Amino acid sequence: MSTENSAGGRSGTPEIQVRGLHKSFGDNEVLRGIDLEVGAGEVVCVIGPSGSGKSTLLRCVNLLEEPTQGQVFVSGTEVTDPDVDIDAVRRRIGMVFQQFNLFPHLTVTDNLTLPQRRVLGRDKAQAAEVAAENLRRVGLSEKATAYPGSLSGGQQQRVAIARALAMGPRVMLFDEPTSALDPELVGDVLAVMRMLADEGMTMMVVTHEMSFAREVADRVVFMDGGVVVEQGAPAQVIGAPTHERTRHFLSRLLDPAMADVEDAPRKSP
Ligand SMILES: Nc1ncnc2c1ncn2[C@@H]1O[C@H](COP(=O)(O)OP(=O)(O)OP(=O)(O)O)[C@@H](O)[C@H]1O
Ligand SMILES: [Mg+2]
Repeated sequence: MSTENSAGGRSGTPEIQVRGLHKSFGDNEVLRGIDLEVGAGEVVCVIGPSGSGKSTLLRCVNLLEEPTQGQVFVSGTEVTDPDVDIDAVRRRIGMVFQQFNLFPHLTVTDNLTLPQRRVLGRDKAQAAEVAAENLRRVGLSEKATAYPGSLSGGQQQRVAIARALAMGPRVMLFDEPTSALDPELVGDVLAVMRMLADEGMTMMVVTHEMSFAREVADRVVFMDGGVVVEQGAPAQVIGAPTHERTRHFLSRLLDPAMADVEDAPRKSP
C-alpha cells in the first residue's frame, strides 16, 4: 500500500523506472518495449499468461538478464549503464523466486547471515542480530537453528523472504513466490508480503494470486506477448478490464474449464 516509505519517502523519483525495454533470446523477442514505473512504497502486481515475459522483466530490473535495448533505473541509478557498480545496485534489490534456493546444509540463521557477511561485510554478531530480527518479522524465530529440509515449503519461502530483507533492500521483487506451495501454505507467505506492503516496502510482484493483487496492489499490470497491454487500479484491471486479451486471461485463470469451452469456436471457426 502507498504508505510512507521509510527507505526513501514519497519523493518525485520512482524507485524503479523501465524505459523502452527490449529483450531477445536469439530470434525470440521476449520483451518488446516495456515502459513502467514503480513509485516509492508502491506495490505493483504483474500478471499475464505463461511466456509473456514477466520473469524476464523482473530479471532485467536487477540485471540477472541483460536488456537488448532500453534503460532501467533503480533508486535513480541507471542499472543498464555499462559502468554501473552492479553489486551496489543489487544490494538495494531483494529478489524472491518460486524456488526458495536455501542452502540445505546450513541452518536457517546461517542462511541469513552468510550473504550479509559475504556481501555487506557484517561481522558475525551483527549479522546474527539482523537475522534474528528478520526471522521474527516473518514469524519464524523458533526455527532459527533448524535446517531448511525440516521446514514446510511455506516456511522455507518465509526464510527466503527474511534472507532478502536481512540485506536491507529498498525494493523487493517477487517472482511467483507462492506457486510452488501447497494451497494451505500460501496464506502465510502472502501475509508476510502484505505486512511488507503495509510497512511501505516498494514491491514488484509477479503473481497468479488475484485476491492478493486485488487487496494489496496499488496497481496491476497485465502483460502479454512482451508488452504491457493494460495497467491501472486492481478494481479496474481485474474487475473491469478494457482489453479482450486481459478478459480472456482472467476468465481462463478463474475458470480454466470454461475458458477452454469458449476457446473452441475460435480455434476452429
Ligand atoms: N534464458 C533464456 N534463454 C532463452 N529463452 C528464454 C530464457 N528465459 C526466458 N526465455 C523465453 O522467454 C519467454 C518469456 O519467458 P518468461 O520466463 O519471462 O515468461 P513468464 O511470463 O515469466 O512465464 P511463466 O508464467 O511461465 O513464468 C519464453 O518464451 C521463454 O522460453
Ligand atoms: Mg515466470
